[in-house]
Amino acid sequence: MGPASPGTGKPAYDAAMLPELAGLTAESPLLAGWLTARGAGTRPFVIPGHKHRGHLLHPDLGRLVDDDVPMCGGIDTVQYAHGYLTDAESRAAELWGADWARLSVGGSTHGNQTMCLAIGRPGDRVAVTRALHRSTLLGLVLAGLDPVWLPLEVDLATGLPLGTSPEAVASVLADDPGIKAVFLVSPGYLGTATDIAAVARITNGYDVPLIVDQAWGGHLGFHPDYPAHALAQGADGMVLSAHKALPAYSQGAILLARTDRLDRDRLDRAFDATHTTSASGNILAGADAARAVLQLAGEPLLERLRVNVAWARDELRRIPGAYVPGPEEFATGLFDPAKLVVLLAGTGADGIKVELELIAAGFPLELADRDTVIAMTTLADDRDTIEPMVKAMTESILRHAGAPRQVVASVSWTADHTAAQLPREAFFAPHETVSAADAVGRISAEVIAPYPPGVPVLVPGEVIDAEIIAALQSASAAGTRVAYAADPTLATFQVVR
Ligand SMILES: Cc1ncc(COP(=O)(O)O)c(C=O)c1O
Repeated sequence: MGPASPGTGKPAYDAAMLPELAGLTAESPLLAGWLTARGAGTRPFVIPGHKHRGHLLHPDLGRLVDDDVPMCGGIDTVQYAHGYLTDAESRAAELWGADWARLSVGGSTHGNQTMCLAIGRPGDRVAVTRALHRSTLLGLVLAGLDPVWLPLEVDLATGLPLGTSPEAVASVLADDPGIKAVFLVSPGYLGTATDIAAVARITNGYDVPLIVDQAWGGHLGFHPDYPAHALAQGADGMVLSAHKALPAYSQGAILLARTDRLDRDRLDRAFDATHTTSASGNILAGADAARAVLQLAGEPLLERLRVNVAWARDELRRIPGAYVPGPEEFATGLFDPAKLVVLLAGTGADGIKVELELIAAGFPLELADRDTVIAMTTLADDRDTIEPMVKAMTESILRHAGAPRQVVASVSWTADHTAAQLPREAFFAPHETVSAADAVGRISAEVIAPYPPGVPVLVPGEVIDAEIIAALQSASAAGTRVAYAADPTLATFQVVR
């Protein structure tokens, strides 16, 4: 190990780690700016109020807050005199082939809401995948857009959601010339992807912007065996969570767009409308550094990940009854090779029990419900991290194995929806709380989404039916957290008065 990096007291880069990353700091203006700011020994009279002196109040507080550097008045001056952030955003635009890029501390949540606020005007119709994340739904509420839902394809034999078919997009655009944009999610939580190139050919033909929530696919587009990223496939806008697939701080996100069909000024206004004015320099520097990691060493790191996850799949496939989907079962580009998903119905094991055992063993999982477990594997993993987790998971599933269950696709993918009002109208309408029995036939005032995956089963404005209530209650009884419902027991629902 070399000498300490400025300010951090941590060892400097050791070339044995990954030679491609030796020049990382020089390639990341915000990482370099963060190191300079931490090492400068300034005695700040700007916020944040901890002044890097938390340790003087309590050592644990110091560990928590002393390395926190704001973007404005920290990494750069209050006047942004050095232009580090603009430089970082230009580098992101260049890497992903965009002509507009912004780094966000608000996650893909802020990204999706920005994209909604950048389209049309209140009342305009947009085609939206029904696999949308809650953040896009609330973006529609903020922007007053009227969603025309695009159905999700589901493989009923395995329960896997498959993405949006290009035919569904073509049919909605042909039927409704008023559609102002198409919003998709790809890849989805379970690794399956939409054929964005085929969809983009259609949307480009109608001159309608295509916006892809690629929250889970920050790593796509940098290795030939992975799907290309959405912009490379012809989309107009794309939102990435830097903190999901990439080695960045929680909340870091990257928004990218081409501005032939999207308005640059409107994108900026939409972004700024809901972004904090006190952005964390650590989070922005994390997103910038993650971009530099991809640029310098994306391909070797993705190759290591691909090989290790393929190994993990082969191991887990030995468990009798386990279904472990992999890219080889899908057309090129329609499954993320980094995704490690185990569908458990055929094993008889309960994913919630498996998750509890894995948490106890020190391996918290990204998703677990009765029928599914997902271990998030990223560029930061290697065989040493993946192998013990796979061993623990295998042992746990075998311990809980039992009579195979019938495959039941999650209500998140299969619920039927009937809209009676615009989401925005119902969101702002006076509401009342009624019992589950009395909620049948009423209009929902709330978003209700099993989490993960956070895909709304009920959105404001939709009619609540008995089957949806039963499916939500059964997911909850099986241990899934049903999120955002005002009454998490699902005994009552909030409906439009
Ligand atoms: C598809 C999708 N989009 C957006 C989000 C929100 O991302 P973030 O947590 O970065 O705000 C999520 C979160 O899980 C997601 O699954």
